[in-house]
Amino acid sequence: MIRVGVIGLGFMGGVHLRNWQARSDAEVVAVCDAILPVAGDSKQGNLDVGGESLDLEGIATYTDAAEMFAAESLDAVSIALPTHLHRPIAIQALEAGTHVLCEKPMALNVEDCDAMIVAAKKAERLLMIAHCIRFWPEYVWLKQVIDSGEYGKLRAAEFQRLSAAPGWDSNSWFADVSKSGGIALDLHIHDLDFIQYCFGEPVQARAACSRFDNDVPGHVQTWLDYGNNAAISATGSWMMPKSFGFKMSYSAVFETAAAFFEGRGVKVFPAEGEPFTVEVDGDGYAAEIEHFAKLVGGQERTMVVTPEDARESVRMALEVTEQ
Ligand SMILES: NC(=O)c1ccc[n+]([C@@H]2O[C@H](COP(=O)([O-])OP(=O)(O)OC[C@H]3O[C@@H](n4cnc5c(N)ncnc54)[C@H](O)[C@@H]3O)[C@@H](O)[C@H]2O)c1
Repeated sequence: MIRVGVIGLGFMGGVHLRNWQARSDAEVVAVCDAILPVAGDSKQGNLDVGGESLDLEGIATYTDAAEMFAAESLDAVSIALPTHLHRPIAIQALEAGTHVLCEKPMALNVEDCDAMIVAAKKAERLLMIAHCIRFWPEYVWLKQVIDSGEYGKLRAAEFQRLSAAPGWDSNSWFADVSKSGGIALDLHIHDLDFIQYCFGEPVQARAACSRFDNDVPGHVQTWLDYGNNAAISATGSWMMPKSFGFKMSYSAVFETAAAFFEGRGVKVFPAEGEPFTVEVDGDGYAAEIEHFAKLVGGQERTMVVTPEDARESVRMALEVTEQ
């Protein structure tokens, strides 16, 4: 049994908690949040998609992570805190001897990522950053098709992640770029990380950025050049109207087919024959936590996302908004 602690019980903390609780090889023994949810209640997520109640029965609760580490003997923690807290709390957890699954982005800058990598090496503990898109079934399918060459060479791919601005009331940490890193680190990084996973480091990246009135970037378009005659781009927006909600999608053009994803399943348009839908199973968050649990348990040894990959995605995301 993996003894797990979950730190941060907002939108993503709820996702981690529920997925850990669904596993038979793990037991959530402690949770920590500065503001603990009231029994039967739960907090809203940044996109108002939280709200499912959390089952905290039999779980020790803390409001301070240091107290939790001192009192509990944990094998692993999930960290789902605001981004500016990833570095200090991940390092505290590693120094306390626990394996760490930390939400993306890894941290606010490359120096913080490096400090986390050093701490993990020193503690000889796993540090995995929760880049869930690497585990999302439709993206797993796309990577497999790119790698296998089933439809020939990739000629072009466009990835989109469009959303209304997250709850930007005066208390929201998302609105504070010094805490969230803004759109490139918080949202666009999902697609930049997946692009890096598929194609590695680009020869060159260019970006266009539209800013809110307060000069904070709100819409980013990035073009990545791999010097291989494939046009790769990604768009991230926090400028959609509230009625739009959130949508992620991609299109990919191969030599002998095109693939399109939005919602569930992948629609494939072959060069010959009728279009068809590839049905996929599973849930990216559950798959990500399963992979981490298997790394902790020693059943899997190769990390799908290494700390160095996550650091590179932070570097790429910062680079495109600095242009
Ligand atoms: N992988 C994804 O799809 C995805 C989606 C949304 C957010 N995220 C990431 O997850 C992280 C958390 O985002 P969220 O949407 O869950 O935020 P949130 O605001 O919903 O939750 C953060 C929680 O941390 C708690 N907290 C704040 N400071 C604390 C402290 N010092 N000690 C203990 N608890 C503290 C807050 O009370 C809150 O409950 C961010 O890094 C974000 O970028 C990832």
